[in-house]
Amino acid sequence: MRQKIVAGNWKMNNTLDEGLKLTSEIINMISDEVRGDVTVVLAPSFVHLTRVKSLIKDTKKVHLAAQNCSEHTSGAYTGEVSAPMLASVGVEYVIIGHSERREYFNETNEQLARKVDIALANDLIPIFCCGEALEVRENGLYHEFVCNQVKDSLFHLHDDQFSKVVIAYEPIWAIGTGKTASSDQAQEMHATLREYIGERYGTDIAEKTPILYGGSCKPDNAKELFACKDVDGGLIGGASLKSRDFTDIIKSF
Ligand code: G3H
Repeated sequence: MRQKIVAGNWKMNNTLDEGLKLTSEIINMISDEVRGDVTVVLAPSFVHLTRVKSLIKDTKKVHLAAQNCSEHTSGAYTGEVSAPMLASVGVEYVIIGHSERREYFNETNEQLARKVDIALANDLIPIFCCGEALEVRENGLYHEFVCNQVKDSLFHLHDDQFSKVVIAYEPIWAIGTGKTASSDQAQEMHATLREYIGERYGTDIAEKTPILYGGSCKPDNAKELFACKDVDGGLIGGASLKSRDFTDIIKSF
């Protein structure tokens, strides 16, 4: 059985008070309502990580993620945050290669491969994002495009390293647009990715790799998406900022 994960990516939202209030509400709401086999992950901004950690540390159900990490371990990189720094404050997961990082900060597949390596070397679990823009979807080349993102940033990993990675498929045309992928579209891409991973790492590893869906996932579409055979949860943006919506999504399994 694959790990089920619902991760909330807060992006650049929430003041400290708002983030702590949201965290407390989520902890309270999921305490008795959520299945034990669903891993809940929160990804606040860097400056809120330690405070959010202090709220979640007594619960086994909520885990901490960073939204990014540097491709360097340490040194003169003003404004960057390293994987060892994240590990040192109790971060367990790190989102790598979000489409907003690729688009606005020009992060390349090669750079993301280095971030994945550094994350794994510091015992952080990469949540590696991939996904196509609308024009790639419309020209029909999206399978190849998304598989290449995965190949270029992940396929240098050894089996034991790749086995730790979580993948998030996020079609860019569905992010923050209110236009989610249909469950058929999500399932099709997730199955393609799993097959592609299987060709490189074998069926056992492919079958164990969690592949999350992201892009306008909401309480009213999460159940249908999560029911798909190859969809193992979600990377949630906007709806993760409201405790009720986020909890309802978690309960959609
Ligand atoms: O990381 C999360 C994704 O970008 C999805 O964002 O749920 O606001 O569409 P969204």
